[in-house]
Amino acid sequence: MTGSSSAAFSDTLINALKSILGPGGLLTQDTDTAPYLTDWRGMFHGKAFAVARPASTEACAKTVKLCAWHKIPVVPQGGNTSMVGGATPDDSGRALVIVMSRMNRVRDIDRIDNTMSIDAGVTLKAAQDAALDAGLMLPLSISSEGSADIGGILATNAGGNNTVRYGNARELALGLEAVLPDGRILNLMRRLRKDNTGYALRQLFIGSEGTLAIITGAILQLQPKPKSIETALCAVADARAALELFAAFRNAEPSAIQAFEFMSGLSMQLVNTLIPDAPLPLAEPSPAYVLVELASPRGGDTLRGLMEEVLGKALEDGLVSDAVLAESEAQRQAFWKLREEHSEAQKRAGTSVKNDVSVPLSAIPEFIDRATTACKKLIAGIRVAPFGHIGDGNIHFNLVQPEGADGAAFLACDHEIMDAVTAIVRDLGGSFSAEHGVGQLKTYMMPAWRGGAELDVMRHIKTAIDPEGIMNPGKMLPEVG
Ligand code: MLT
Ligand code: ZN
Repeated sequence: MTGSSSAAFSDTLINALKSILGPGGLLTQDTDTAPYLTDWRGMFHGKAFAVARPASTEACAKTVKLCAWHKIPVVPQGGNTSMVGGATPDDSGRALVIVMSRMNRVRDIDRIDNTMSIDAGVTLKAAQDAALDAGLMLPLSISSEGSADIGGILATNAGGNNTVRYGNARELALGLEAVLPDGRILNLMRRLRKDNTGYALRQLFIGSEGTLAIITGAILQLQPKPKSIETALCAVADARAALELFAAFRNAEPSAIQAFEFMSGLSMQLVNTLIPDAPLPLAEPSPAYVLVELASPRGGDTLRGLMEEVLGKALEDGLVSDAVLAESEAQRQAFWKLREEHSEAQKRAGTSVKNDVSVPLSAIPEFIDRATTACKKLIAGIRVAPFGHIGDGNIHFNLVQPEGADGAAFLACDHEIMDAVTAIVRDLGGSFSAEHGVGQLKTYMMPAWRGGAELDVMRHIKTAIDPEGIMNPGKMLPEVG
């Protein structure tokens, strides 16, 4: 096959898709489809006969209907930022990847309902900006927000930096619009806080990782735009100290905490050395750091007082060894850059094995200690670089290949490493995937973690909604076998 991925598919099918999708709506040349066929981490490389870019829900529905008729697998893809290969097709070349980037309209913002009605293809960053322009805030923030889109965010129930205060993506969605595997449009675009009329279908599709439907639109709840924000970067000895600091802020004013993030010394050092313009704004490196943000829709200097009071006491008690408060928006952005560039820095350091786990808050220090020991025992020189949303009990327990080692050889041990880490997570009552989902990378873990009745119910739901199994096959649910 040269030049075009679609050579094996009939001209009639390609032409039918082209007429549904309009000019620029169907990509068939290898050079055009290539960016959609490899995941962000470079771990999965798939094939597809084409990439569809519908410009409307109706066009998306007609496309899926045609695929259903021909039993063509459909792989929905948002900003292609999955950490678990959740949006990369298999290598059969039979799939149609559907991306929503041409559906990029904010449909409506209502200041009384405090809602935003939006197309699935709007990036999270563009949605945040639209809310801010309207004097409101979309309270969801993740490191990949410049690329990740609303459809992908809801399909994976993204969490991120503000979950500690506002919840995961599913808590923000009041309404949903999706295309079912048979091409029907499911319109659940109701902006109701109260609606007890049958199964809460939108919640079923949110977090289903594209295995049940393609999300084409949503109604999201907004929040008042903060008038005061205080952000501090603190040096702490370890996760225990970080959690005590979290408790101190929570006890002082729980409603003020907007983010509470943990970064290990090594993961911060990778950012400082591998990312341009990301120096540590503290006098000395520390074994660990906390990025804490307080926010309020009220103006004035109450939050500054609260931040200084809690940090002052923490410094006095030796819980925090140093701290710096952002004195401007530019400085605040610089602090956040240190946190948000963690994944990129780790990518630049070589291959890494990611464990996006959660445990009860109280178990985090024990988890980090035990998992560190287990990984160091497995691979000499392994770089243990945990960080994450400690206020939610969610740690990205990431392991970076030993310096100078063979990256592929390190990745070949990923199951061994993940299994050693998740055995401890399990022992502590946690989850093997707190926010990145299951995708194709972690499907094999499902029987052990979600087996029995739980997996059985999931399979029944899948079969009821997608009897031909065309929606994102090979993701989330393991093959029956
Ligand atoms: C983040 O919070 O930055 C990402 O979810 C993490 C990762 O790279 O594991
Ligand atoms: Zn995260």
